[in-house]
Amino acid sequence: MFQAAITGTGLFTPSQSISNEELVASFNEYVRRYNEEHAAEIASGELVALAESSVEFIEKASGIKQRYVLDREGILDPARMYPRLEPRPNEELSVMAEIAVAAAREALARAGRSVDEVDGIICAASNMQRAYPAMAIEVQNALGAKGWAFDMNVACSSATFGIEQAANTVRAGGAKVVLMVNPEICSAHLEWRDRDCHFIFGDVATAVVVERADLAKGERFDILGTRLATVFSNNIRNNKGFLNRCEDRWGDLRDQLFVQEGRKVFKEVCPMVAEHIATHLQSLELAPAGVKRFWLHQANLAMNLLIAKRLLDRDPTPEEAPVILDRYANTSSAGSIIAFHLHSSDLARGDVGVISSFGAGYSVGSVVVRKA
Ligand code: COA
Repeated sequence: MFQAAITGTGLFTPSQSISNEELVASFNEYVRRYNEEHAAEIASGELVALAESSVEFIEKASGIKQRYVLDREGILDPARMYPRLEPRPNEELSVMAEIAVAAAREALARAGRSVDEVDGIICAASNMQRAYPAMAIEVQNALGAKGWAFDMNVACSSATFGIEQAANTVRAGGAKVVLMVNPEICSAHLEWRDRDCHFIFGDVATAVVVERADLAKGERFDILGTRLATVFSNNIRNNKGFLNRCEDRWGDLRDQLFVQEGRKVFKEVCPMVAEHIATHLQSLELAPAGVKRFWLHQANLAMNLLIAKRLLDRDPTPEEAPVILDRYANTSSAGSIIAFHLHSSDLARGDVGVISSFGAGYSVGSVVVRKA
């Protein structure tokens, strides 16, 4: 068995962003138009009038202040309310692969690895823009890498599940260098017309290089352990898939985009994650108090604070559980990796940290690392 380590990470941030103020202004204009258009049905009780969203609610309920997106114009157009991402011909690099490649190049550069040293690529994300060929293989081709590549999806937990697959391959000697990418175009599977969730997501791509520790060229975080768990739940769901091409069969298409029971998710997932991390640390003979940093999935500020508080028995400091969701919103699988990417360079040799992601499934993954 070889020791696996994280040797580089990369982050692609879209150039466009939407503030809560801009989002709410567009949403409320959509509401005004809808209520005006359906005034008669609303008056007769056939339809319920839509309620306005508010910046105050969003910030208080989630901690999110803005989100990066690939196309703000389409999202903010009250007559459209979803991004305008034109389909590209097959000969052109697909948009998901494009953002993954950008993050991958940075991760490889940070690891001091050239593309021809990559043995395998895993694309781990919440949604693939097509069924096949695998997004990872398109990324492999665009980078000019050899070896193998495949896609996997465990929703918001995809990154930690992907790191475990990469680490296992490296540990077993099946690969020396594995690249894991998380392109997340959440704006395309979010219902921007639903005020319960229209503020939640943003777009981004992250990448992680996992390789044999003994061959690492620069700074590295040794992977002390990985642990995954899943428990079925319908509380976060997206039914879009190849079986629902006949729209009539479904009637209400609302379930073909992200939909959740946010309160239930909050109540059920927080204890599950805290317990998961605590027992994982215990199995490695480590205590939460000895952990320098928790790079948690970034879905909701209160959720992160609660999980860290359960682990530490006190409120975490911003250094102990860094928050990036104020700027990035929920970026699904990429959230904990953005936190790691932006907030890990200051750790000292020997410092221990935990990357943890959680979400639909339910699913939870933790990766315990030590700066070498
Ligand atoms: N603006 C103003 N009011 C809003 C609103 C908005 N955008 N959205 C909802 N409200 C209202 C609701 O209608 C509700 O009103 P009511 O009390 O009259 O019924 C009230 O605000 C509270 O709504 P609720 O949905 O219960 O809020 P919440 O405090 O649970 O926060 C979430 C909502 C989604 C932010 C929160 O539940 C959450 O983050 N959960 C975890 C989600 C998560 O991590 N999901 C993982 C996805 S990968």
